[in-house]
Amino acid sequence: MPNPRDTSFLNRLGLRTRAFLNSRKLIKLATIFETDKWGPHSYARHYDHHFASIRKRPLTVLEIGVGGYDNPNAGGESLRVWKWFFPNSQIVGIDHHPKTAIEEPRIRTFQGSQADASFLERVVSEIGRPDIIIDDGSHLNAHVIAAFQALFPLLKDDGIYVVEDLQTSYWPSFGGVTHPAPDTPTTMNFFRGLIDGLNHSEYLDPGYGPTVYDRHMVSMHFYHNLMFIYKGLNNEGSNLVRDGRCPLEDIPRSSSST
Ligand SMILES: C[S@@+](CC[C@H](N)C(=O)[O-])C[C@H]1O[C@@H](n2cnc3c(N)ncnc32)[C@H](O)[C@@H]1O
Repeated sequence: MPNPRDTSFLNRLGLRTRAFLNSRKLIKLATIFETDKWGPHSYARHYDHHFASIRKRPLTVLEIGVGGYDNPNAGGESLRVWKWFFPNSQIVGIDHHPKTAIEEPRIRTFQGSQADASFLERVVSEIGRPDIIIDDGSHLNAHVIAAFQALFPLLKDDGIYVVEDLQTSYWPSFGGVTHPAPDTPTTMNFFRGLIDGLNHSEYLDPGYGPTVYDRHMVSMHFYHNLMFIYKGLNNEGSNLVRDGRCPLEDIPRSSSST
């Protein structure tokens, strides 16, 4: 079986052939390119569920965390998976170590930290607004939140934002807390705090001013250690009053109710 780290011509040819033949199968691609998105984690099947219907579109896919840490020649496993899965897309990786050595056609990298909002803005100004953003970087709670705050407004209006390895929300070495108070700034507390905003138009509070997340998040999907947020216009309005009537008034009351 060709080794993804062996750059000899025949091995690269074999790898490309297998990738081409399996380009629709995300789990297979994750196995071929040896990213931990399948095996150590079960993320590939969730990615397949969320991405399969859009894989042929010309997208910009931005992933924080190229892999390989301080080895400039290592990493890029998941970027190669995205390149073969999304055949018409540009794939961009961010890492705070230099990763230009792993670049290839349709794969670019930028060096900088996910906690640096001006760096992230510079990247987006070069590549355009991403359709998909995946955070697989430091997994430090403060970094995950900072990157989301900087990048969610820059995501395309119908884009998808993904955060991996949410387990660090519970781990002190990453700034997490296992049983946090409601206002402790852990990653899970932060994202949990956005859920009500999906229903903000139902708040019985005429003075409430919707946040950017209230207005631009249309769904959130949580899995084991993984989360997808769909961006869109959250403007369905309230169900409380429609055509001057409250639809709930039409629900028959049980005979026991007074
Ligand atoms: C888990 S690896 C990424 C693996 C890769 N996404 C994959 O699935 O094959 C995490 C990477 O994030 C990078 N990283 C760590 N802290 C970072 C930060 N503050 N900003 C950007 N990248 C960071 C590390 O250098 C490392 O290469």
